[in-house]
Amino acid sequence: MKILGIETSCDETAAAVVENGRKLLSNVVSSSVDLHSAYGGVVPEIAARSHLEVILPGIDQALQDAIAKSHKPKATSKKRVKDLGLKAHGSRLFDPWDQIDAIAVTQGPGLLGSLLIGVLTARTLAIAQNKPLYAINHVEAHVYASFLDSKPNFPLLALIVSGGHTQLVLFEAHNRYKMLGQTLDDAVGEAYDKVAKILGFPYPGGPSIAEAAAKGNPRAFHLPAAKMQNPHDFSFSGLKTAVLRAAQTASGHDFTFPSTKLPKVLSGSQKADLAASFQRAANQTLVAVLQKAITESQPASVVMAGGVAANKNLREMAQTSLSTEVIYPDFALCTDNAAMIAAAAFYKGKKARANPYSLAPDPSLSM
Ligand code: KG4
Ligand code: ZN
Repeated sequence: MKILGIETSCDETAAAVVENGRKLLSNVVSSSVDLHSAYGGVVPEIAARSHLEVILPGIDQALQDAIAKSHKPKATSKKRVKDLGLKAHGSRLFDPWDQIDAIAVTQGPGLLGSLLIGVLTARTLAIAQNKPLYAINHVEAHVYASFLDSKPNFPLLALIVSGGHTQLVLFEAHNRYKMLGQTLDDAVGEAYDKVAKILGFPYPGGPSIAEAAAKGNPRAFHLPAAKMQNPHDFSFSGLKTAVLRAAQTASGHDFTFPSTKLPKVLSGSQKADLAASFQRAANQTLVAVLQKAITESQPASVVMAGGVAANKNLREMAQTSLSTEVIYPDFALCTDNAAMIAAAAFYKGKKARANPYSLAPDPSLSM
C-alpha cells in the first residue's frame, strides 16, 4: 500500500510517498525558514503563503520521485518520465496517481493558516482522485518516523522532543497509548530557539546552539534543573531565564540589561560556553526523565523523535547514561517531514480515516 503524506503544520511544506509504512519512495521538504530568520521566529502569514506557493509542485515532485524509485525506468525511458510527468511502464503511460492508494495529511496541532493549506489540498485531491483520506496528529507522527527504518516493539516508550512539544508517551499498541508526562511551559526545542535568540544565533536555534556548543565548555555555567511534582513532566522556561541571567552577568551587566543587546556585548567564547552549558542542562533533563520512565515501565523499545532528537550531544548522552538502547529516526526525518505522516496513517489504519468533505484542521489537536 502506497500512501502520499502531506505535512504543512508549521514552516515546512512536505510531501512524501511511503510503501507499507516502511519503504520511503520519496521525501520532498521545502522550508520557508530563511524567510522567517530575520524575524527570529515563524511568521504565520509568511508560512501560509509559502505553503500555498509550493504545495502542488512539492506533491508533484514526490509523485515523480516515487515513480522513479519504485520502477527504476531504463535509461531510455528516464527522460520521458521526467518530461511528461507520467509513469513509463513497458510501452504504456500511466497517470502517476495510479500508484497511490491513499492520502494522509496533518490535521494538527500547528498554525491554523498553515494547516488549512495542507488539509484543503489533501481533501481536494482525495475527492478528485477518489482516494481514501487519513487525518494524522503531527506530534504522534514524529514517533512513526522511527518505523521507517527500524522495527520498534511494544510496549514502546517514546520521548517526543520538538519545537512545539515535549511529551513522554507509552504506546501499548498502535492507537493505544498513555501520556506519562509533558512540558508545563516551553517545549525543549522552543528553549533551544529562545536561547539561540539571546545569543544572537539564527532561527531555528537548535542546530546553531549545537554548533557553538561544540566549541564551548559545558561546565562553564551552572544552570539549575527544574524540580517537578510529576517526575515525568518537564519545564524549560526557568532554564532559558537562567541562561539570560548568566549572559547578563558574564557580560558585566545587571538583570535590567536588555536581552536584545547581549549578542553584541558577549564574546565568541562566552557564547560558546553559554550554548554548551545550556545544551548540557537541557539534554541532561531529557535523559534523566527518560531513564525514570524506562525503569518504571520496562518498555520493549525506546524511541526519541522530533527535531531535537537530531542533537548529537543528546544522542551521545543517551548512549552513555541510559540503561536501554534508543531508536532514532534518520537525522533527516527528525525534523518535520511528510514521510512520518504517511507512515503513521499506514500503522493507525481505520482509526485515522477521515471524511474528505468535512475534515477540518485543528491547531490545538492533542494526542
Ligand atoms: O520537529 P520539528 O521540526 O518541528 C516541530 O514539530 O516543532 O522541531 C523543530 C525544533 C526546533 O526548535 C529546532 O531548534 C530543533 O527542533 N532542532 C534541534 C536540532 N535540530 C533541530 N535542536 C537541537 N539540536 C539540533 N541539532
Ligand atoms: Zn514537528
